[in-house]
Amino acid sequence: FHVPPAVNEPIKSYAPGTPERDEVLKMYKELYNQKIDVPLYIGDQEIRTNNTRNINPPHDHQHCVGTFHTAEKKHIEQAISTALEARKKWSQLAWEQRAAIFLKAADLIAGPYRAKINAATMIGQSKNIFQAEIDSACEIIDFLRFNVEYMTQMYDEQPESDEHAWNRVEYRPLEGFVYAITPFNFTAIAGNLPSSAAMMGNVVVWKPSATQMFSAQVLMEVFQEAGVPNGVINMVMGDAQMITETVLASPDFAGVHFTGSTGVFNSIWSKIGQNIGNYKTYPRIVGETGGKDFIVAHPSANSKEVSTAIARGAFEFQGQKCSAASRMYIPKSMWPSVKAELEADLKSFKMGSPEDMSNFINAVIDEKSFDKLASYIDRAKNDTDAEVIMGGNYDKSKGWFIEPTVILTSNPKYVTMETELFGPVATIYVYEDDKWEEMLNLVDTTSEYALTGAIFSKDRYAAEQATKALENAAGNFYINDKCTGAVVGRQPFGGARASGTNDKAGSKLNLMRWVSVRLIKETF
Ligand code: ALA
Repeated sequence: FHVPPAVNEPIKSYAPGTPERDEVLKMYKELYNQKIDVPLYIGDQEIRTNNTRNINPPHDHQHCVGTFHTAEKKHIEQAISTALEARKKWSQLAWEQRAAIFLKAADLIAGPYRAKINAATMIGQSKNIFQAEIDSACEIIDFLRFNVEYMTQMYDEQPESDEHAWNRVEYRPLEGFVYAITPFNFTAIAGNLPSSAAMMGNVVVWKPSATQMFSAQVLMEVFQEAGVPNGVINMVMGDAQMITETVLASPDFAGVHFTGSTGVFNSIWSKIGQNIGNYKTYPRIVGETGGKDFIVAHPSANSKEVSTAIARGAFEFQGQKCSAASRMYIPKSMWPSVKAELEADLKSFKMGSPEDMSNFINAVIDEKSFDKLASYIDRAKNDTDAEVIMGGNYDKSKGWFIEPTVILTSNPKYVTMETELFGPVATIYVYEDDKWEEMLNLVDTTSEYALTGAIFSKDRYAAEQATKALENAAGNFYINDKCTGAVVGRQPFGGARASGTNDKAGSKLNLMRWVSVRLIKETF
């Protein structure tokens, strides 16, 4: 039995005059002026509690587009017991049936839900339509379709047998439930983390980010309409620490699928360690965390390619990508042209609300993020070993707007060369052309992270040298391309060191983490 091979969902253009542009703008207006009310989804119940929080678009933070309900401990316990009850049937369902549900979910997003999930992402997470389309339509569709294909390939893999003995493996779901924790920055990650575990027969307690509630609800609607049975994916929100502690206290906790900050992942890992004797099975721990991603230019590189990679890698999606380029190493001989080209690119970026589709830069996600970014910009304005050479303005009167900012530093270990800022602030260090090898060593040792990185070089020896010297510095390493924009089915994504467990999102390796394999040997 084979499903049709997965192909990447074509990205729609949203050019003026296209029907998709008109449709998404109409949807945007409609959703902007209607108040949603997002309940907890536990089994067949939509639970509305006494506590709610507002949902505000980051680009218009005084406007309220809805509320979401927050859980108490008893709701989390209810979500766990409901999931375990649903597991009895779900874990026994033939995998073809599970595959069909998630292929239908992909189809729903590709068709009837496309405008809605894109508009929800534009409003709730402040993304322009082109970025929303890549994230909340195409990437989710690709995750769902490719994961189904990987699942079929996995199930096809069986050990050798002979006439006297038959060996077969069963890819069983984990014994318990999976906890999925998802971030605000990608609707696709919010779609992938619960669905990939569920696809493998697991039941899930899912905690989306409080700043992604609008599109999280659309995902839940899609899962339900596609036929994910009640209780298989339960969505809960509220006090993150309480939710996580309640989940990790359950003996049936069987794994965590996490994307978020390194600090939170570390604390989850240690709590699991403290509880380790209480679980029925060793929990799977899969996490993708932070990044301090680099672009390195060799003197042989083309300066225009380098500056375009910086402009796009650092500032698309407001730099709110774990893969975003944030520390750059440019040879002195190339710096004047990279600088001029980058200045021109940044001048062409318009900033504002995503409703105006000519705005390339939108707001950062919330006040906390705004304040953090503003404080690092101010610090660079005052420090003697750094200067703000492009951008540097910010304005929170209407939305959390940070102008694309470039810091130039004479100190390769300057604070913004080391610290993840998660926003449109990039730092550049200019190195002496003859210090290439020392510079590679700096790239490797400056940051604790190892998510993505890029090297630009026309010189093949230099490219090879960098590839070897930086073999542990990035889980996704790009030669002559920016360090962002991994495509499902082409560049499985994930990093090591403080960036995570490197169980590549969108891969067989990842799906393997959600099964407990049973080998059966039968002798004739
Ligand atoms: N997968 C996303 C990228 O590669 C985060 O940019």
